[in-house]
Amino acid sequence: MPSLLIRQIGCLVSTDSNLRSVVCGAEMALLPKLEDAFVLIEDGKIAAYGPMTECPERADEVIDASGRFVFPAWCDSHTHIVFATTREEEFVDRIKGLSYEEIARRGGGILNSARKLQLVDEDTLFSGAWNRLQEVISYGTGAIEVKSGYGLTLESELKMLRVIRRLKEKSPIPVKATFLGAHAVPLEFKERRGDYIRLIINEMLPQVAGEGLADYCDVFCDKGFFTPEETDLILKSAARYGLKAKIHANELGITGGVQVGVANGALSVDHLEYTGTEEIEVLKNSNTMPTLLPNCAFFLGIPYPAARQMIDAGLPVALASDYNPGSSPSGNMPFVISLACIRMKMLPEEAVFAATLNGARAMELEKEFGTIAVGKVANLVISKPMLSLALLPYSFGSNLVETVVINGTAVVK
Ligand code: NIG
Ligand code: FE
Repeated sequence: MPSLLIRQIGCLVSTDSNLRSVVCGAEMALLPKLEDAFVLIEDGKIAAYGPMTECPERADEVIDASGRFVFPAWCDSHTHIVFATTREEEFVDRIKGLSYEEIARRGGGILNSARKLQLVDEDTLFSGAWNRLQEVISYGTGAIEVKSGYGLTLESELKMLRVIRRLKEKSPIPVKATFLGAHAVPLEFKERRGDYIRLIINEMLPQVAGEGLADYCDVFCDKGFFTPEETDLILKSAARYGLKAKIHANELGITGGVQVGVANGALSVDHLEYTGTEEIEVLKNSNTMPTLLPNCAFFLGIPYPAARQMIDAGLPVALASDYNPGSSPSGNMPFVISLACIRMKMLPEEAVFAATLNGARAMELEKEFGTIAVGKVANLVISKPMLSLALLPYSFGSNLVETVVINGTAVVK
């Protein structure tokens, strides 16, 4: 594999000689920045980095990054990029005044996506998801998590997870797979939800685990979806198969989702638009990553999560896109970073840490991704010319990503 030297970097962001696995609280604002720097990549890994005064003379390929910022690629730890079709009719219904929950109660929302997905074959689903994966790589995403949850039958959940397995096999970036059979209760189980939970526990989980189709198990623990008790049952069953929890919690209300996630040792609890001091206290005594998805609050017009309160309480925070057809039809991580700064008052430095190392941690990829460290995989973003880090979130909607390097190869130029 040819070596690659990125030289004369205006500012190299998030160098990390201590191989930190997570960054919490006040430390999130202290993003290391090395000016006038180089990165040398060999065999797809970061072989060296440092000031230009120590730059090696040659490599097989050279990129001149004068005036540019170099970042670790974004680590997007929460997406639903396998889906059959978009849902812009519901978007228009919401413009006319219906809420996300009202649409869901009418059998729209997740159930609408499930009906459509059940009719689509694996190859078609794969090609849609593959296009979305290429799209997000072009924005600088260098590691991703993908959920099932638009199947809601044994057959269709397996179909989705097999599509995710194909993404894993073919993708140049790592893909983590999460089983989300408990995304919504199908209409036919409305009056006997216990039967659906038993279907998840007794039929879906054993097959999913038996075929090795999932790394994690998710539940949409929220008002109108799954209760904390149901969530607890499902997560405990998943744990018996070695599947760690990564759950949707507190998007629609204070519902006990954070508590049940933490009690089950969840890797992350995601959304948290409704988070009180009790939830923050519970998170402080845990290793669970609070993962915030500001695209969703933006798109649905719901409150933004209290990122400032969490960071000020000493917690780590991760940022992810939640790319899905219902609440976030975008996987653009630079836009997520902009929203985090503009609407959640995160500093640009905090937002970058949240979208890289802490996102990697929420997928157990922090040893190989998320910072600029010797031995880590060379998935990097090279910006267009920028004088300060703040220009990235400030320029919302503009594309400041010029080059994306994946496994040491420039895939987008
Ligand atoms: O993360 N909240 C639950 N699941 C997705 C939305 C799913 C949908 O509306 O299709 C989310 O926002
Ligand atoms: Fe989601």
